[in-house]
Amino acid sequence: MSIDLTEETITGAVQQTFDESKDDRLREIFVSLVQHLHDFAREVRLTGDEWFTAVNFLERVGHVSSPTRQEFVLLSDILGLSVLVDQINHGNGSATDSTLLGPFYVEGRPRVENGADISGGVAGMPLFFGGTVVDPEGRPVAGADVDTWHSDGDGFYDVQQADKLDGEPAMRGLLATDDNGRFSFRSIVPRYYPVPTDGPCGEIIRAAGRSPMRPEHIHFWFHAQGYEPLVTMLFRGDDPYLERDAVFGAKRSLVADFVQHEAGEDAPDGTVMAEPFQTVEWIFVLEPGRR
Ligand code: BEZ
Ligand code: FE
Repeated sequence: MSIDLTEETITGAVQQTFDESKDDRLREIFVSLVQHLHDFAREVRLTGDEWFTAVNFLERVGHVSSPTRQEFVLLSDILGLSVLVDQINHGNGSATDSTLLGPFYVEGRPRVENGADISGGVAGMPLFFGGTVVDPEGRPVAGADVDTWHSDGDGFYDVQQADKLDGEPAMRGLLATDDNGRFSFRSIVPRYYPVPTDGPCGEIIRAAGRSPMRPEHIHFWFHAQGYEPLVTMLFRGDDPYLERDAVFGAKRSLVADFVQHEAGEDAPDGTVMAEPFQTVEWIFVLEPGRR
């Protein structure tokens, strides 16, 4: 019955409308969602003005969203939902820990050879990254696709400075592991940065008096036949924001050594470097496919 509904009976009435769904999972999700949404409104005694503010907020999140500005993803991130979903679905212990994807992954990144310079000509301290991809027994995973992306030394991604870079991709690339599971690239050292605060999500961050900062990191996304995809990132141990990541994604298991080298030393690719640079080495463990 959906007439003369009260604060108490409306929840069941809405839930009942999913009774006929042939999709069991859809029914389970919506029945639970309605329960929690209604309980939330009852618990905080949500006013009409507050409800209108919330709807207007979501509309504005939609309006600023684009393929390179994913404000809905950011909303999920700053509320901890992205990391919670990741925790629910990953973390069996034997593979490299995963963490959130973030809004700066973009399709259409260039495929590059191992050892390539992916900085796109952006200035900064050179960084040489060497990675090995293995299975839980330590056997190399050959032919894995390795997406990587990171900020520049001022904490900005290429998509945040498209005008300056003429829309060209920089500090991102798609590599493949060789027969030894190895991949490598040259780029520049990234920097901690604030999540975008010029949109609706920034209003929440400011209203809460929260820090918008993410600790310095390099993103990775692995795809390999027969293995679960892995979305992860590596952090710098002495980063001032490591323990207060605005999006709750930092993990101690993902802290890497960014080794500092002086001018005159050999880079991993044999180049004698005329300036200081950093190197990072990491072993990534993929989880065998579940199906
Ligand atoms: C990122 O690491 O790129 C990121 C993640 C969540 C929100 C903003 C940025
Ligand atoms: Fe990032």
